[in-house]
Amino acid sequence: MEQRLPQHIAVIMDGNGRWAKDRGLPRSEGHLAGVNAVRTLVRECRRRGIGYVTVYAFSKENWQRPEKEVRFLFELFLRFIRQELPDLMKEDIRLAFIGDRKDLPFTVRQALEYALKKTADNRSMVFTLAISYSGREEILQAARRALAANLKPEELTEEVFRSFLYAPGTPDPDLVIRTSGEKRLSNFLLFQSAYAEFYFSSVLWPDFGPEELTKALDSYACRTRRFGRTSEQLGGQTATEGKKHE
Ligand code: FPP
Repeated sequence: MEQRLPQHIAVIMDGNGRWAKDRGLPRSEGHLAGVNAVRTLVRECRRRGIGYVTVYAFSKENWQRPEKEVRFLFELFLRFIRQELPDLMKEDIRLAFIGDRKDLPFTVRQALEYALKKTADNRSMVFTLAISYSGREEILQAARRALAANLKPEELTEEVFRSFLYAPGTPDPDLVIRTSGEKRLSNFLLFQSAYAEFYFSSVLWPDFGPEELTKALDSYACRTRRFGRTSEQLGGQTATEGKKHE
């Protein structure tokens, strides 16, 4: 039987620092190893036919990290965007972005906007980078834009509200993965994760490879997604047996 796949996987990549510490290396080495894991994740998801992958690369709260680490991370993002572009084109992957663009250093913003434009017509998969992202801020800016649009209160339906979020065309995540044993949402996709399934892995992000992804997908396939309905209404089926929720 064919396994039911999530359409959208969102990942909270955690544990780069601990991965480096375990090896007596500086934190930067953990982030470097984390980039390889991102690359592998994107490739694997595309190969398996998952349509949307979102990675939480840098939260609004991460600005509080030591300046040296922040600088290193943004250099990494810049290099990553530039280096991945040819492969994204070859593999027909569209790059997308959620977060606060005005916070980004100019060079990163420039490279990002170039890559967004260049990959805009790619159709095999959407790979979204969440950088300087905050779920609460996303909801607040949507509310501000809705107010600025002079909508009447009754016109602000869920559908209209969604149109003010950062990526209205991206479906809600079906599966949210967090690595390194932490079990928190940490301000990630707060509005969109309302009915997501969660998968917590104790593996540190740089070690999260294809085998770990398979475990997450197997776990997802066994879940019964009820969306507020009773299991009787759904016939006691799991995600393996077809779409129940739409
Ligand atoms: C969490 O590990 C990781 C981050 C805050 C940064 C995420 C960045 C990467 C995975 C590398 C770059 C990504 C892209 C998309 C190019 P941590 O530093 O919080 O680890 P710790 O909790 O063990 O200290």
